[in-house]
Amino acid sequence: MPESKIIYILAIESSCDDTSAAVLQNNIVLSNVVANQKIHEEYGGVVPELASRAHQQNIVPVVNQALAKANIDKNQLSAIAFTRGPGLMGSLLVGTSFAKSLALGLNIPLIEVNHMQAHILAHFIKEEPMSPPTFPFLALTISGGHTQIVKVADYFKMEILGQTLDDAVGEAFDKSAKILGLPYPGGPLIDKYAAKGNPLRFEFPKPKVDGVNFSFSGLKTSILYFIQRKTKENPNFIKENLEDICASIQHTIVAILMGKLKKAVKFTGIKQVAIGGGVSANSGIRKALQEAESNLGWKTYSPKFEYCTDNAAMIGIVGYLKFLNKDFSTQDVTAKARYII
Ligand code: KG4
Ligand code: ZN
Repeated sequence: MPESKIIYILAIESSCDDTSAAVLQNNIVLSNVVANQKIHEEYGGVVPELASRAHQQNIVPVVNQALAKANIDKNQLSAIAFTRGPGLMGSLLVGTSFAKSLALGLNIPLIEVNHMQAHILAHFIKEEPMSPPTFPFLALTISGGHTQIVKVADYFKMEILGQTLDDAVGEAFDKSAKILGLPYPGGPLIDKYAAKGNPLRFEFPKPKVDGVNFSFSGLKTSILYFIQRKTKENPNFIKENLEDICASIQHTIVAILMGKLKKAVKFTGIKQVAIGGGVSANSGIRKALQEAESNLGWKTYSPKFEYCTDNAAMIGIVGYLKFLNKDFSTQDVTAKARYII
């Protein structure tokens, strides 16, 4: 990464249901504030209209908190970076409009950031003693909205090798959790219960999809039918077997992800693998990657937990890299719900 003078970036992330602001000094995170929206829990998923209203309420206090924590005055900022997409339109509009107004008011550059690129480039946040991956590497981006295997040749030279044809892996976790009566987002809860369960107790079918693409909708349906059948026989089936069910679901999902990663490594000859996105917080996938280091000679990279789920620090690192390239946006930039890397 080229060295430069001291640059302060304020970054804003509002693509889904987390309102986040961060301040970076070059590639170092000074603050990273995330306001989660509890409102969606009772609906079992993100309600777009409620998300955008909550972003409107959160954005000013979250930005103020990020500046205060970093001990930076807004007049010291070098640029404002924001998530342009992909994401929910109403949510993106709040962050985009806020970033544009602030950049205009402060008369500093505005930098648009692709959320999926940010999940990958989060690995370049300076975090001792961790070192970032070297190019080229493969990135597995796994979140509530996406499942992709990306070949990363340089910071902004990325090629999607494969992706999901239907549900994202985070949805597979969350929808399975919902079937089990767990609240949203259920991914972390499946992970928690799986830790104490037997992963081989129940077997679920793995999808047959060509190449390094994914499909998770069939898995969700087979889990639903399995649970319906079992609870008919025993109404307490879920309660009595929750840990084994969660462990078996997690085992199946991790096996699907690892199977495709192995294919991608074989196909490209690249043995450096970095994970990103909310699901990369999952202990099952982290363990599987560690095993691949010892058994297959891979070098793997897992970001710190706070940089896995949606956060503005990852938007800030992309902002910094784009600042070095003088890759700025103009005031006519608009939010983009579908935005391919
Ligand atoms: O990246 P992210 O915060 O938001 C999106 O861009 O979607 O990812 C959120 C997803 C949710 O589906 C959540 O259940 C999942 O990440 N997740 C997990 C874990 N922590 C978060 N899934 C499995 N195990 C976890 N530990
Ligand atoms: Zn995300």
